[in-house]
Amino acid sequence: MLKEPEKIDLDVFDAIAHLPPAPVLLVASGNKEEDWNVTTVGMFNVFSMFPVVVGVGVKTSRNIYRLLADSDDFTINVPQSNLIKAVEICGKESGLKKNKFKEAGITPVKGLRVKSPIIKECWLNMECKKLSSAKKTHAEKVAAVHSGEIDIGDHTWFLAQVAHTEIWTNYDRSKSLLYWDGEYRLADKLVKGKEE
Ligand SMILES: Cc1cc2nc3c(=O)[nH]c(=O)nc-3n(C[C@H](O)[C@H](O)[C@H](O)COP(=O)(O)O)c2cc1C
Repeated sequence: MLKEPEKIDLDVFDAIAHLPPAPVLLVASGNKEEDWNVTTVGMFNVFSMFPVVVGVGVKTSRNIYRLLADSDDFTINVPQSNLIKAVEICGKESGLKKNKFKEAGITPVKGLRVKSPIIKECWLNMECKKLSSAKKTHAEKVAAVHSGEIDIGDHTWFLAQVAHTEIWTNYDRSKSLLYWDGEYRLADKLVKGKEE
């Protein structure tokens, strides 16, 4: 007979680290081209489906925090595994005094509906308008989130509606990077398909 697995107490930080992996994203922002910069972000969530409201959690110490706070918009760009170096650079270096696009070898391109740039080399781009600058909707009123910024602990959540999305025609979403407790992985193992 198989023995039942035993359970032990776990430190809360270890428990967080043991959660399943989440996407790692490149978030870009800036009202003017000379201000544009980019940072690696793992704290991402979808807060509403109708309307679509997404959010990124950023520490106030980050340069991107200043850009996000001063801008009406930002972009969420999904990197594939070939961009791992860029993800590491944007997740380590400060954009305070340097253009991280140049340093990471990625190309900012003017967004269609936002002032912030999208990243050419990422397979999926989402142009996001902070809730404060979007027209208030019923869902926003119900959520009582009018400012588009919520301070929670050491992270501020910037909430936004998605104004425009772009995707490669030949994408393979399973090649997107996932971040898990200091390691990068791919989500390419299918356990059960839609039709199975
Ligand atoms: C995989 C990964 C995920 C990260 N996720 C976040 C995050 O969700 N929020 C955050 O504030 N910083 C996050 N960071 C840290 C910032 O990307 C890092 O401090 C960066 O250098 C900040 O740059 P900036 O000062 O130019 O904004 C992450 C770093 C890595 C490598």
